Amino acid sequence: VSLKNFNTFGVDVNARYFVEINHPDDLAELFMDPQWHEIGRLVIGGGSNMLFIKDFDGLVIHMNIRGIEHRISHDEVFVEAGAGEVWNDLVNYCVQRGFAGLENLSLIPGSVGASPIQNIGAYGVELKDVFSSCKAFEIATGNFHTFTKADCGFGYRESVFKNELKGQYIIVSVKFDLSLIPHLNLRYGAIEQELGNRGITDPTIKDVSQVVSHIRVAKLPDPSTIGNAGSFFKNPVITATEFEPIKQKFPDVVNYPAGDGLVKLAAGWLIEQCGWKGKVVGNTGTWKNQALVLVNHGGAAGQEVYNFSSQIIDSVYTKFGVTLQREVNIIG
Ligand code: EPU
Repeated sequence: VSLKNFNTFGVDVNARYFVEINHPDDLAELFMDPQWHEIGRLVIGGGSNMLFIKDFDGLVIHMNIRGIEHRISHDEVFVEAGAGEVWNDLVNYCVQRGFAGLENLSLIPGSVGASPIQNIGAYGVELKDVFSSCKAFEIATGNFHTFTKADCGFGYRESVFKNELKGQYIIVSVKFDLSLIPHLNLRYGAIEQELGNRGITDPTIKDVSQVVSHIRVAKLPDPSTIGNAGSFFKNPVITATEFEPIKQKFPDVVNYPAGDGLVKLAAGWLIEQCGWKGKVVGNTGTWKNQALVLVNHGGAAGQEVYNFSSQIIDSVYTKFGVTLQREVNIIG
């Protein structure tokens, strides 16, 4: 089965087996199959945070569990969505109904089920700020477990599902705590600026959603036309001691306080300073408006993109002494 349409990088690889999950019961049924325990498995939602570097010699499980439900109690809104819902459809569902909390996360590609795995975040808001719990299928036992926010161990682009519990659970649904009373997060400079451009002084969550969408469209390539998986690397977090010599040598270095004497650097800035922004190398390269995004200009093999990313890591290390970590999952 070709996976070309199941990964936003648009890499053309094949999976040995492929199954679509439309209901949690489908997983229980798969569990009964003796083969289940023998073959390699890969769970895929929107395929927006992965790079295949070769064919997948196992079972690809495409999560397609749909459905969004909500319940209102006073000012609080409890929303539950199936893992296979498109993330941005959920955002729109909530924004249209005046359920506040997801507006800054507008237009993030991918599925609801993938959102807790790397604690998706953008424009000053992270999933953990609105996450209540999620339900997941345990691959080894066939049981369903509920994970509270505390269970998930969320951090910057991190959760237990990427670490201790990697590959052990399949998320089937996610619950969110939203509110009828907006608590707008407008700290991000670009949001304020764009609201100003539009002459909006008292924004609604709809305004914020529209502005965030506008900023994303301007900065990030649309995966339906140019293959990509968003930020390819994480923004590196370093100690103040490590930061000092960098700041001395590069006074303009873009940085943010990250708590506990830590400093977060903008990986896009580091990459741009190494001369990679907008560079086209074979069928791959970095995006012209955002150097942190690697793209497939058409026909790129996963390995080609991967090799290019290694080149970037090397040159950023040589110039700044900082090692970039890939944020995208490398499969193969
Ligand atoms: N910058 C450059 N050159 C570039 C790109 C960025 O100099 O080519 C500098 C600029 O100074 C800019 C700063 O880096 O102000 C930050 O850039 P941006 O606002 O685009 O955000 P980011 O740190 O590069 C992160 C997330 C994005 C998220 C944005 C907005 C990560 C790995 N990425 O990017 O998430 O949309 O913030 O909040 O944390 C994703 O994870 O796939 C993703 C797109």
